[in-house]
Amino acid sequence: MDARCATLRCATLLCALLLLVHTGTEAAVITVQSNSSTNILVGNNITLSITYNTTKDPTVSWSKDSVSMAKWSKASTEVLDANKQKIIGNGSLLIYNSTKGDSANYLVRVEALGDTDGTLRFPVTVYDPVTNVSVSQSPEAVNENAPVVNLTCSAATGGMTYAWTKDEKSLTNDSSYVLLDGGQMLQIILPKRTHNGNYSCNVSNPVSSNTKTRMLSVSYTDSLSGGAIAGIVIGSICGVILLIGLIILVIFCIRKRKKGEKEKKLAQSHKEAIRTVSGTTLSPDDPAYFTLNNIMYRSSSISMGSYIMKDLDNTSDFVRNISPIPPPSQIKVKKATQV
Ligand SMILES: *[C@@H]1O[C@H](CO)[C@@H](O)[C@H](O)[C@H]1NC(C)=O
Ligand SMILES: *[C@@H]1O[C@H](CO)[C@@H](O)[C@H](O)[C@H]1NC(C)=O
Ligand SMILES: *[C@@H]1O[C@H](CO)[C@@H](O)[C@H](O)[C@H]1NC(C)=O
Ligand SMILES: *[C@@H]1O[C@H](CO)[C@@H](O)[C@H](O)[C@H]1NC(C)=O
Ligand SMILES: *[C@@H]1O[C@H](CO)[C@@H](O)[C@H](O)[C@H]1NC(C)=O
Ligand SMILES: *[C@@H]1O[C@H](CO)[C@@H](O)[C@H](O)[C@H]1NC(C)=O
Repeated sequence: MDARCATLRCATLLCALLLLVHTGTEAAVITVQSNSSTNILVGNNITLSITYNTTKDPTVSWSKDSVSMAKWSKASTEVLDANKQKIIGNGSLLIYNSTKGDSANYLVRVEALGDTDGTLRFPVTVYDPVTNVSVSQSPEAVNENAPVVNLTCSAATGGMTYAWTKDEKSLTNDSSYVLLDGGQMLQIILPKRTHNGNYSCNVSNPVSSNTKTRMLSVSYTDSLSGGAIAGIVIGSICGVILLIGLIILVIFCIRKRKKGEKEKKLAQSHKEAIRTVSGTTLSPDDPAYFTLNNIMYRSSSISMGSYIMKDLDNTSDFVRNISPIPPPSQIKVKKATQV
């Protein structure tokens, strides 16, 4: 039993040992990593830096769109175009003064004897800077009767993504706004004065951006025809004339009413004066009756009574009132005897 056990133990140990030895000699898989950006502004250098995990002396080879362009090992360095390319560090690639022609799929392969090759792909894109952004408007003049107004954004170079804002805020969820041509055109259907504002177009690509702002002004008086304007003007003038007429009429009526009241009051004081004529009641039917300065007199008889005095009376018993026009109840009355 012990012997069997020992054999088993021995076999297990042997197996483990064999496995260990095998693993040690087994080809390691090389992993290549990079943190390099593959979006490049034209004219800038392209740096494709790599790190990898093999301890052996590796060979690093670069290809551009499957065409070999550089090979590096500790022993030697080869590049296709030494004016344009350079190997830096442990096989990283530097491309000077990038042009649009440098946009390509780059592939790096790291080989080491007995190890599984490691590869990494770099999809490099070289972008132009975004220049000369402009926003044009069609039609140039727009009023609220217009069916549509188009704002078109364009850039001389580098245009890729187009983003619109109105008054520095993102476009509201307005059903009038329609984006066409990949966002390059902002179409405003049935433009209203509420659409007035500063529209900015931000043209960008991954390495460059530029913005242009244009003011949209939707007019709303230009939409009236000549006839309509004439109508409004005539209507306004008529209205003003009517109003003035009405005011005059009202003033006239008030004046007339005041005058009527005055006359009524005078007539009342008149009657009072008549009544105060001592002992006699006068009637306009009386043939002996006559008036002078709103005072009734009998033509013949001698009457004792009171009669209204003029304002400028300065006779001894007249005391001037404080108010220039005395109320009717305080009509200046002078007792007199008339012959
Ligand atoms: C990439 O990593 C290296 C260090 O590993 C660092 O020096 C370099 O700045 C990094 N580059 C970018 C573009 O992050
Ligand atoms: C190149 O690799 C060696 C080890 O192989 C390492 O010590 C050195 O830092 C590496 N150089 C660069 C620039 O990555
Ligand atoms: C890169 O361009 C700059 C100026 O544009 C120039 O001075 C430099 O020599 C160029 N480098 C190479 C390697 O062509
Ligand atoms: C606005 O753009 C649309 C779509 O391109 C076009 O059909 C229409 O004629 C343009 N309207 C004006 C006024 O430019
Ligand atoms: C950009 O605009 C300027 C003038 O505004 C002009 O001189 C230049 O040629 C334009 N560039 C391009 C690429 O159209
Ligand atoms: C334009 O858009 C780009 C990309 O989204 C952004 O980085 C940039 O800040 C924007 N520019 C302005 C002025 O909003």
